[in-house]
Amino acid sequence: MKKFTCVQDIGDLKVAVEEALELKRDRYQFSELGRNKTLLMLFFNSSLRTRLSTQKAAMNLGMNVMVLDVNQGAWKLETERGVIMDGDKPEHLLEAIPVMGSYCDIIGIRSFAQFKDKKEDYEERILEQFIRYSGRPVFSMEAATRHPLQSFADLITIEEYKKVERPKVVLTWAPHPKALPQAVPNSFAEWMNATDYDFVITHPEGYELAEEFVGGAKVEYDQRKAFEGADFIYAKNWAAYRDPHYGEVLSKNRAWTVDDEKMALTNNAYFMHCLPVRRNMIVSDSVIESEQSLVIPEAANREISATVVLKRLLEGLK
Ligand code: CP
Repeated sequence: MKKFTCVQDIGDLKVAVEEALELKRDRYQFSELGRNKTLLMLFFNSSLRTRLSTQKAAMNLGMNVMVLDVNQGAWKLETERGVIMDGDKPEHLLEAIPVMGSYCDIIGIRSFAQFKDKKEDYEERILEQFIRYSGRPVFSMEAATRHPLQSFADLITIEEYKKVERPKVVLTWAPHPKALPQAVPNSFAEWMNATDYDFVITHPEGYELAEEFVGGAKVEYDQRKAFEGADFIYAKNWAAYRDPHYGEVLSKNRAWTVDDEKMALTNNAYFMHCLPVRRNMIVSDSVIESEQSLVIPEAANREISATVVLKRLLEGLK
């Protein structure tokens, strides 16, 4: 594998999940593969799970790891070409990228949507510059439009817990006080659409995701109807995608919070969320603390998805 930024990069999902479950049985079986190879993890945005699980995955494979928080301790980076650099950003990404590439073998990037320019966000300008100029395999640790390491971990978790071959999986919008990117729901939809699951998306009107991510999924505006018979409820907030409201919070309606009454409509569904989660906005205390909540095993599977991805990128170096 030469890069990992979207579902297509992982190839056959059944093969990838089998590889993940095999690695989960013994996560140190390739501990020599990464000897004398260095991973650079670059964060333009905060992280708990991605930072720790990806570093752990690299350590499982015997890699050396360097972590750089771009906005804390590094020179502020200019990302636009053609800018007269007379402001507070002393270094340009176009020099910084090949320099960083010269110190490592694989690069992971976290670079969220900035909500200033939809075209710029959806063209993945920062991620694409790393792919083009670093000279190294690049993987996404959540970019502007997708979070594939999360979606892969979500898929592994569903495969581990599903009770029927083709479960009904529901992605539901839920309220949040601040504007959040569409990367997690976009990516989850992309991965679910690549399976043969019965996949439904529910959200208030105005929160439609980009058509390229909705794909063939059923969109149901009545959340309660969507929940009927569901085997998995995947909650997430996202800001509006459609113009002229791109990046805006259109609703904080807590009638969309996932609670016991709504979970009772499901087929005793499991509850999922990528974390961090705002309790009693996205989900009630009782649902997230219930036996049906998978948020902890889902987060633990981030180490497994990252181990598979780094293993394949290491194999691609040869
Ligand atoms: N789910 C996830 O990516 O968590 P972090 O933002 O803490 O890395």
